[in-house]
Amino acid sequence: MNVLGIETSCDETGVAVYSTESGLVADALHSQVDLHAVYGGVVPEIASRDHIRRLLPLVQQVLTDAGIEQPDAIAYTAGPGLAGALMVGSGLANGLGLAWDCPVIPVHHMEGHLLAPMLEDEPPEFPFLALLVSGGHSMLIAVSGLGEYELLGTTLDDAVGEAFDKSAKLLGLGYPGGPALAALAEDGDDNAYAFPRPMLNRPGFDFSFSGLKTAVMLEVRKAEQAGELEARKADLAASFQRAAVDTLVGRTLQAAKHEGLERIVIAGGVGANRLLRAEMKARFTGQVYYPRMAYCTDNGAMIAVAGALRLNDARQADEIRATARWALDTLARPAAAG
Ligand code: KG4
Ligand code: ZN
Repeated sequence: MNVLGIETSCDETGVAVYSTESGLVADALHSQVDLHAVYGGVVPEIASRDHIRRLLPLVQQVLTDAGIEQPDAIAYTAGPGLAGALMVGSGLANGLGLAWDCPVIPVHHMEGHLLAPMLEDEPPEFPFLALLVSGGHSMLIAVSGLGEYELLGTTLDDAVGEAFDKSAKLLGLGYPGGPALAALAEDGDDNAYAFPRPMLNRPGFDFSFSGLKTAVMLEVRKAEQAGELEARKADLAASFQRAAVDTLVGRTLQAAKHEGLERIVIAGGVGANRLLRAEMKARFTGQVYYPRMAYCTDNGAMIAVAGALRLNDARQADEIRATARWALDTLARPAAAG
């Protein structure tokens, strides 16, 4: 079975073909980063319009690369995300489903991130603890099986990717700031500033990143007033990154211990952060899994593999489903085979 995966929830148009026999057979991505960079963030209307321009040619390209005329099923991101952007992928998926008379599978974007490590040669077995960290989410989830997700903790305010992006903006690093901030941090001293490690001493497994962001803002202002900002930027970036990573790793280890889980999966855009990967590996006694860098940030391959794992949920193309807000722990296990 060949599953076409379509991702258009934010600012990347991702399309891929996943075969249940031979794995990922084709994959293409168009990033809109350049379009949004001038505005300092994603402009939803521009995102929707660019998905419209890019999506069909990318679908044609992956079908050619996979050597097939049409797939056996189409998985698409039905939410959460930007409503207009989601509607582009959903509209095309359902339209093609009708034209090709093949079923469609609405996929939850964060379940796509969560299952991205399944694209690797040594995928994690269930159960595992997932740290899902992206521009919009910071979640710790106990995963006992497909669709069996218990939300242990989430952020009370900003997502960690948002904290990276906002801190990067304060340092004048453009959009998206996460990767740029991580690169600048390489040249800095991560002990230069004692930024807070929010929540680590509180019970439960929630996160909070707005205090950290404010602490960065105050130090940036101080450095600016002293005319030293240029000279201090790398130290600020390194100290922020260290505080954010310490918080994520500390909280994840607390949750893994509490749940008695021996496998940790790191996924989502911030999962591309090298320090986060290295620290988790160094400090956790069990196994740590993460997708390759390209499948941490948004992509079509993770939606295709999630669809392949949820083939039993395939349905006839009908409505243009786009659910902008959609909690991951409301998902159910896939329907029983039938
Ligand atoms: O998963 P993703 O591509 O989109 C969402 O679903 O949000 O995540 C994007 C987020 C952005 O906040 C970006 O700055 C962050 O992931 N990010 C990083 C790195 N690469 C991407 N944050 C820290 N270090 C990185 N290397
Ligand atoms: Zn994402």
